[in-house]
Amino acid sequence: MKNFNLSVVFLLFLGLSGLHAQERIPQVEALLEKMTLEEKIGQLNLLTPGGGIATGSVVSEDVEAKIKAGNVGGVFGVSSPERVRQAQELAVKNSRLGIPLLIGSDVIHGYKTTFPIPLGLSSSWDMELIKETAKVAAKEATADGINWNFSPMVDISRDPRWGRVAEGAGEDAYLGSQIARAMVQGYQQDDLTEPHTMMATVKHLALYGAPEGGRDYNRVDMSRTKMFNEYLPPYKAAVDAGVGSVMTSFNDIDGVPATGNKWLLTDLLRERWGFDGFVVSDYTSVNEMIAHGMGDLQDVSAMALKAGLDMDMVGEGFLTTLKKSVEEGRVSEEEITTAARRILEAKHKLGLLDDPYKYSDASRPEKDILTKENRQLARRAATQSFVLLKDHNDILPVSKRAKIALIGPLANNQSNMLGTWAPTGDFNLSVPVLEGFKNVAPNAQITYAKGANITNDSVFAKKVNVFGPKVEISDRSPEELLQEALKVAKASDVVIAVVGEASEMSGEAASRTNIQIPESQKRLIRELVATGKPVALVLMSGRPLDISEEMGMPVSILQAWHPGVEAGNAIADVVFGDVNPSGKLTMSWPRNVGQIPVYYGSRITGRPAPTEEFQKFKTNYLDVPNSPLLPFGHGLSYTTFQYSKIKAHGETLRPGDSLMISTTVTNTGDRAGQEVVQLYIHDKVRSLTPPKKQLIAFEKIALQPGESKTVEFPVTVEDLKFYNGQLEYVAEPGEFEFFVGGTSDCEMQGSFTLVE
Ligand code: NOJ
Repeated sequence: MKNFNLSVVFLLFLGLSGLHAQERIPQVEALLEKMTLEEKIGQLNLLTPGGGIATGSVVSEDVEAKIKAGNVGGVFGVSSPERVRQAQELAVKNSRLGIPLLIGSDVIHGYKTTFPIPLGLSSSWDMELIKETAKVAAKEATADGINWNFSPMVDISRDPRWGRVAEGAGEDAYLGSQIARAMVQGYQQDDLTEPHTMMATVKHLALYGAPEGGRDYNRVDMSRTKMFNEYLPPYKAAVDAGVGSVMTSFNDIDGVPATGNKWLLTDLLRERWGFDGFVVSDYTSVNEMIAHGMGDLQDVSAMALKAGLDMDMVGEGFLTTLKKSVEEGRVSEEEITTAARRILEAKHKLGLLDDPYKYSDASRPEKDILTKENRQLARRAATQSFVLLKDHNDILPVSKRAKIALIGPLANNQSNMLGTWAPTGDFNLSVPVLEGFKNVAPNAQITYAKGANITNDSVFAKKVNVFGPKVEISDRSPEELLQEALKVAKASDVVIAVVGEASEMSGEAASRTNIQIPESQKRLIRELVATGKPVALVLMSGRPLDISEEMGMPVSILQAWHPGVEAGNAIADVVFGDVNPSGKLTMSWPRNVGQIPVYYGSRITGRPAPTEEFQKFKTNYLDVPNSPLLPFGHGLSYTTFQYSKIKAHGETLRPGDSLMISTTVTNTGDRAGQEVVQLYIHDKVRSLTPPKKQLIAFEKIALQPGESKTVEFPVTVEDLKFYNGQLEYVAEPGEFEFFVGGTSDCEMQGSFTLVE
């Protein structure tokens, strides 16, 4: 405290008073000087002419005329250098002040080169790889005219019923924060004026991943301490990494919709976190505050602006009501100027004010999009995202000379390989599993049979098929499909069954209460197992599934998520052992939906269950154990790893110092492999009930057969901090236990004491 100097006090004053600590940009200020109130409001309006996938019930009308009139600050759903140039020309040549547009897009897991779904990518635990995918996505998207991306989605979720878990990084705030940072860095890199980088948007602020009942868009209610400790860190990490914009969420928080929540958008985001970019609503989420019970369109638009929202996506509440609200004294022109300034500053950061056409280079798409290198990265990323859940009798990997029955509704399919929310990708470019097998194992004898429909339920299929046919119910009867597959299976050495969810069975507005593999495919699996042949399941899904039945079968299971454009090649790389799987789950997989939420970091109770055995008057269930079916951090390899010499180098940690925790990991099998070494702590005594375990560090290492490596984790007081009851970020002195291993289900290894 003694060293507190004047400039810190000044900055603190600026922060607390809500003033901009940031320097004013003369170019932006000069524009603001010239702008009418209507022109300022125009900058706050984001429209889509409907070129992409509409995620709400309206698309914008008369976009061209509105751009010319200076009523639009940005558009999305427009791509290609030519179309983007045309759009910019409308703004630059026809509107009075010629201010260029932000060109947005949902580039969620790759642009045209589609990478695995984010939940899959997160399972790689490889931050450099994740950053690289974001970098390539930015290069491709900017080549096609996009300068602003609606990613990363960092919503923590412990509810696999919620379909959008596919788009995030799972259940853990620490891992989620590392991934948020890696993605922002990948998209934006060091210089947003550079034409291969685009502005990122962290979304959806906040708590969107915790809807009641796992139903999309549903209400959220949670204590402040839980928010701060378990849900908010990834958004903050993105802000700390310099993310250019923030998107609000559809849900309410403490009864106030996020889009109009002043505590969230101003007190927390701007004043506490120091965010200096702009805030955009989600699709019509301003208007949806009417349904939330916040008033009419004028009321909710004023409320959102005053709360700290700068840009209104699609709903045009700002455009159509803010002027009236200024006239009636309900909002001030200054509040509108502040929002317009933030939009113009974003355009300045991107270099658009100097060169509106910098993302309209017609020679770039051919050079930058879907290159061989990009596809190679997609293939590698997919192999790194797969998680070997179980390997019964080492059925995997399979010999390249085997007689293989390749069975299943996803075994020779293109339309589901990219996964949900890949609107910029083209599934016709994706590699089906059958093709990948032939590429990687040309000497294997492979016979394919569909075996089952993804589901036989045509009503369900129709709901999944809103963006085109993902579930195709065969004209042949389920029985006929099954018998054909069994015949193929019986004539083979090994059965590989590619089963699971269609891509649109997860994602937005795709919540499920039954998260098992659909019954049509469960039946197929049972019958394949009954043939007595070795069976390996390649499982695709956008969420953790309840696979209790399948885990109990004598099968191997490789979780492949939805792997992206190189799906078939990547799956073949791992099935045939060219790549050893190394992914680890980033969400716990439940034994059944009744266990949800089940996650490794739950807070300890006063009546903990000491073992998995049922005990009366302890916190447990009569019918299933407390543990999940598969824990966070779980994932096997074709080789084995042994942990030894796990120790803390000392007994105490003092603030300002660090305490080393180390382990030696040895590859005890006969193949090269990678292992994600994980360090967890448990705070034994603190002012708020502590989590049972908390991930504080991890490292992914590669080991040759017989090789050993020592992994060292320097623990500092920062790693032990949490938000206390007053929401202060503190570490409390006392004893901490630590746990090291290749899964969250690892043993306690010792303890150390934090001293004052
Ligand atoms: C709604 C989704 O919630 C959001 O993630 C997305 O960016 C917008 N639609 C725009 O497509």
